[in-house]
Amino acid sequence: METILEVKNLGKTFPIRNFIGRTKGGVSAVDRVSFSLGAQGTLGIVGESGCGKSTLARLLMRLIEPDTGEVNYRDRNILSLSGGPLKEVRRQIQMVFQNPYSSLDPQMTVLDNVAFSLWANGSGKAEARQAAYEYLDAVGLSRTHADRMPGSLSGGQRQRVAIARALILKPEIVIADEAVSALDKSVQAQVLNLFQDLKKEFALSLIFISHDLHVVEYMSDEVMVMYLGRVVEKGPTERIFGNPAHPYTRALLASAPSLDVEHAGSGAPALAGELPSPLNPPSGCRFRTRCPLATERCARETPALTEVGPGHQAACLLIEESKSA
Ligand SMILES: Nc1ncnc2c1ncn2[C@@H]1O[C@H](COP(=O)(O)OP(=O)(O)OP(=O)(O)O)[C@@H](O)[C@H]1O
Ligand code: SF4
Ligand SMILES: [Mg+2]
Repeated sequence: METILEVKNLGKTFPIRNFIGRTKGGVSAVDRVSFSLGAQGTLGIVGESGCGKSTLARLLMRLIEPDTGEVNYRDRNILSLSGGPLKEVRRQIQMVFQNPYSSLDPQMTVLDNVAFSLWANGSGKAEARQAAYEYLDAVGLSRTHADRMPGSLSGGQRQRVAIARALILKPEIVIADEAVSALDKSVQAQVLNLFQDLKKEFALSLIFISHDLHVVEYMSDEVMVMYLGRVVEKGPTERIFGNPAHPYTRALLASAPSLDVEHAGSGAPALAGELPSPLNPPSGCRFRTRCPLATERCARETPALTEVGPGHQAACLLIEESKSA
């Protein structure tokens, strides 16, 4: 599969200041993250709250500046672009957020909410509105919805508007950040199916961020598991769910009570203990304070991602050891 997005060594630490404005440390939100997204593929990103999923998405859009790394979109490092070329790349990568209510303008009709990004990019109003009708139709909304205000729509309908608004710019990549988390289960399923259909229709590549393992398993070809800013495991969906290698992934799967997957041979205990503060993450392997297999070496050494199967990598010292034995 052709690679459309290649991310290398991306890092972001948010400085924390005291009440007089002096820096007193930082939150390591994204630490040395690397991955690639195949053209028309779907990468699922999963992990507990605060593990850096949204920060990573914002870095990819260059809504915030990273401290380290590269984001290569079709062989161009987005981080080295400015002006027109940056604007063009930004158009190619669109985002759909968790809460469509706060991202839609309540004072504008549904139609104008969708048309707006097009005319903000230089199209005429009539032309933008015509296109907006077409994209509303593509997401299953009618002309009667188009004339309403966002506040009168249901949560699922509002999310469809947000999707239409992202698609009208004809992006190649859509990043959905907890895009179905606020919806009821039945509506969630409809919106997930819509994403699947639109992905085919518009030849999209998707990054699907969710804390919900069901959603990620259903949507993704590849999955990346994050813990406290780091990638702990990544690989093809069926391997991550059928043959998880990292103790965190195993615990996460074991903690999802209704998840209908075979945790092949893991028999892992569910996730225990508190998530450490990202202000002061554990030394060495960041998962060590909750890992049932941790040894004293895990406090000293940082595990690197190691190949555990075809296209499948995990970052655990035990895996490194077994490989070198
Ligand atoms: N602007 C900011 N300033 C300081 N810290 C931040 C900022 N944005 C995020 N963080 C911190 O970075 C870490 C990662 O946050 P992020 O929102 O990326 O996590 P997340 O995985 O998206 O979580 P959730 O599942 O709750 O959405 C958290 O500890 C968060 O508090
Ligand atoms: S490196 Fe150590 S603490 Fe980290 S996952 Fe592996 S065994 Fe557990
Ligand atoms: Mg988030």
